[in-house]
Amino acid sequence: MPKPYQLGFTSQYAEIEAELPVRGALPSWLRGTLIRNGPGQFEVGRTPIPHWFDGLAQLHRFSLSEGRVRYSNRFIRSQSYERDNAAGKIHFRGFAVDPCRSLFQKAMALFSNEQGNNAVVNVTRLGEHYLAMTEFPLPMAFNPETLETLGVYGYDDQVKAQIATAHPHYDAQRGFGINMMTYIGLSSAYQLYAVTDKARRLIANLPVQQPAYVHSFAVTARTIVLAEFSLRLTSPLALAFGDQPFIRNFRYDAQRDSRFLVVDKDSGALLADIPTDPFFAFHHINAYEGDDEIILDISAYDDARLIDSLYVRELLEGNEYPPVGQFRRYSLPLSGGRAEYEVIGSETIELPRIHYGYNGLPYRYAYGASTQAGSGDFINQLVKVDVQARTAQVWREDGCYPGEAVFVPDPHGQAEDEGVLLAVVLDSRVGRSFLLVLNARDLSEMARAEVPQHIPFGFHGQFWSKPN
Ligand SMILES: [Fe+2]
Repeated sequence: MPKPYQLGFTSQYAEIEAELPVRGALPSWLRGTLIRNGPGQFEVGRTPIPHWFDGLAQLHRFSLSEGRVRYSNRFIRSQSYERDNAAGKIHFRGFAVDPCRSLFQKAMALFSNEQGNNAVVNVTRLGEHYLAMTEFPLPMAFNPETLETLGVYGYDDQVKAQIATAHPHYDAQRGFGINMMTYIGLSSAYQLYAVTDKARRLIANLPVQQPAYVHSFAVTARTIVLAEFSLRLTSPLALAFGDQPFIRNFRYDAQRDSRFLVVDKDSGALLADIPTDPFFAFHHINAYEGDDEIILDISAYDDARLIDSLYVRELLEGNEYPPVGQFRRYSLPLSGGRAEYEVIGSETIELPRIHYGYNGLPYRYAYGASTQAGSGDFINQLVKVDVQARTAQVWREDGCYPGEAVFVPDPHGQAEDEGVLLAVVLDSRVGRSFLLVLNARDLSEMARAEVPQHIPFGFHGQFWSKPN
């Protein structure tokens, strides 16, 4: 039996531009552009791309103004896209794919950043530049109005790290972005950088023997918090020269603690190194400073088996559905001791978002995608979690599969949850997707804009009030 959400893992080759029919009414203040990233192509020639995270990147643009919605989508013309499609075979190493390469090609790929640049994970703005990102640190620049690919974005610096998160933070007070990178070599290290559109400045270099796979990190007002999960690189040499795909070089060690590294944003000093029981996560939700402790919220898993459940074949033919993270609140004691957690609410959460004005600060609301408990299904609901009341509200509709919900604050609003959530939803009943606009206060539907085709399940997007 085909899964009802099969279209979400089916290529979308049609690049279109269209004004979308809108049901309901968009708030008059909602003006700007949502740009989302995710895979648009799941095979090269006759070869399936095995893992969700390796589909060839496609950008989706929703331009919202005066109650109208214009949509367009375009593939990123990366080396992967161009060369793979021209030859009908996979050339470049991705997250869970590794074509046969010569030893020389392997060495070049790891140490000189000869990559396919399939920037499929997220988008960000750096000064006036709009960039699509993956976890190899060579973002692809694009035109935010036409979605035209402009090429690999080059920083004017000498950074050597080979891995970067696709989840940078922005520190409005200090006026720079922050990202975490990993240098892998004879002396591997986590490296924290202050990022501007010109260059990356090293804040801290944290040596580590077996670097963990780290997809995101957290910040507070004064610190950067790096969660080191128990999924660790067993051998840098094997990563460089072996035949295993990137993520297969990391092994989950259930016997070894995870830990939190707390670094001062300004001095780069390591303030605390706090052990906790082994766990895994992709996405942090938020963190803030308390009394001699840091509170850190994260979408967490007991182990890293989730990664295996996200192979496309597993998703479409497997008997089990991928787990969705627990909403965990960790307390990180700054004067010694282990970090402990409590679970907030009864709903699971993934692809979490908050009102970014509260990033690093005490906050009340988180939004995310989730699976209805007991439904035995893929992600099929959106949740709003009130971390103070420990309650959750839910949006759900039969046959509908939503992705990440981006919170857009009402510029005239006072309350933290005054605004809307924008999410792309696959409607499996009609075989098309729509942009859902929810009132973030109560998750009631304000409008939906129907796309004339399906949008494959993506990862992350950002809303910018310009361009329009
Ligand atoms: Fe992510």
